[in-house]
Amino acid sequence: MLPRKSTITKWLMFVLILGGMLYTVINNNASPVNKEIEIRKLLEYAKDPIINKPPKGEKDLENHSGKVYSSINSSAGHENQPNPLTLTPPVNPHNFKYMIKPKYQCDDSVFLVVYVHSHPDYYKRRILIRQTWGNPKNYKEKIRVIFIMGKGLKQKVQDSLMFESETYGDIVQEDFIDSYKNLTYKGIAGLKWVSENCAHTKYTLKTDDDIFVNMFNLLRHLKSISMHDLGRTKLVLCLTWHAMKVLRDKNSKWYIAKEEFEPDHFPPYCSGSAFIFSTDVVKDMFEISLTIKFFWVDDYYITGALVNKLGLNHTQFISVYSLQKPKFEENFSGPKGDLYIFAHTHEADKIRKVWKRIISKEGKSMKSDYLLSS
Ligand SMILES: *[C@@H]1O[C@H](CO)[C@@H](O)[C@H](O)[C@H]1NC(C)=O
Ligand SMILES: *[C@@H]1O[C@H](CO)[C@@H](O)[C@H](O)[C@H]1NC(C)=O
Ligand SMILES: *[C@@H]1O[C@H](CO)[C@@H](O)[C@H](O)[C@H]1NC(C)=O
Ligand SMILES: *[C@@H]1O[C@H](CO)[C@@H](O)[C@H](O)[C@H]1NC(C)=O
Ligand SMILES: *[C@@H]1O[C@H](CO)[C@@H](O)[C@H](O)[C@H]1NC(C)=O
Repeated sequence: MLPRKSTITKWLMFVLILGGMLYTVINNNASPVNKEIEIRKLLEYAKDPIINKPPKGEKDLENHSGKVYSSINSSAGHENQPNPLTLTPPVNPHNFKYMIKPKYQCDDSVFLVVYVHSHPDYYKRRILIRQTWGNPKNYKEKIRVIFIMGKGLKQKVQDSLMFESETYGDIVQEDFIDSYKNLTYKGIAGLKWVSENCAHTKYTLKTDDDIFVNMFNLLRHLKSISMHDLGRTKLVLCLTWHAMKVLRDKNSKWYIAKEEFEPDHFPPYCSGSAFIFSTDVVKDMFEISLTIKFFWVDDYYITGALVNKLGLNHTQFISVYSLQKPKFEENFSGPKGDLYIFAHTHEADKIRKVWKRIISKEGKSMKSDYLLSS
């Protein structure tokens, strides 16, 4: 959801050039979440909002059968005094209903699950992805691609979406209104679906329907880091922003009031265009989201607030992003094409052209069919 038009270009340049100078790693006070038990309680709450009486003492903390309690201060650790307990509903419950859900889950052999933020209206973008980088038949490693969205406004579009889902089996739709300020719900919906349906996959990629992915390069990279301990678990791999300024200009589309977010700089977070998790963290992220207040800046919320709260570190992946539109073809088809993975572009003809070149280079033939991958 980052400002991606020409503004993002400027921002990216800005960040790249001044990167060294600005490189201020904000030391966030994220502490690893050790109170799994509280989270479980919150989850039970999400399932069953009937609240029983709170327990009185520490001992009862262990007993969470059907009850939901959360500590006022869950990051307080083990102080001398036990935390006072209160009856707190999840700060950010996610109890939207599925309007559309694929019939098939991921099977255990899936290496990478991809959830693509989309919108009911953007049928053409989904078709293009299915015909190019999102077609699982191109790859040795098994991938599963799903499109995630809220509800649109037109019944006609909804009807064709049902048909699309019948045909491809790759649509996940929840019943929140699909709008700019609701993108955080979409992000959480993605985490939820993956943790419930694809928990055994090795890696999870989130991307948008206007992002091109050189999946061959990505799979090679993931395959190679999956051989190493450091790349296997607790991984958050992305173009990481450090100390990104919070925009206080009231005329900006990305204006954020002090009341919404107090600090003037964001703690580290990822470009929302594409980010990768080892799938072990996805469930933790969904669960912790229930305890963190909704904030509409989805890329910060998902890859900043949740990630930092879980005590995970971002691994910088900036070199594989080519987000400057005019450079897309040049970067992906040039001699160093192997170095790039993600690009932001709306130009379907260029995407097809670049894809054709990639396909022939990889020694594959163009396949335009797209069948269910599991
Ligand atoms: C847990 O709470 C339930 C309901 O209050 C009670 O029936 C049960 O005995 C408790 N279990 C333990 C281990 O305290
Ligand atoms: C929560 O705990 C932290 C660390 O112990 C402490 O600094 C902070 O003041 C506490 N916040 C509240 C609301 O109690
Ligand atoms: C976000 O979704 C909720 C649930 O559908 C809806 O009530 C709310 O109006 C939406 N907000 C915006 C800004 O669209
Ligand atoms: C994150 O980095 C810090 C500092 O390098 C390290 O102490 C910590 O263990 C790391 N956390 C994870 C989950 O890797
Ligand atoms: C990719 O784009 C960058 C930024 O515009 C440019 O400087 C670079 O030369 C390009 N690389 C290749 C291999 O085309």
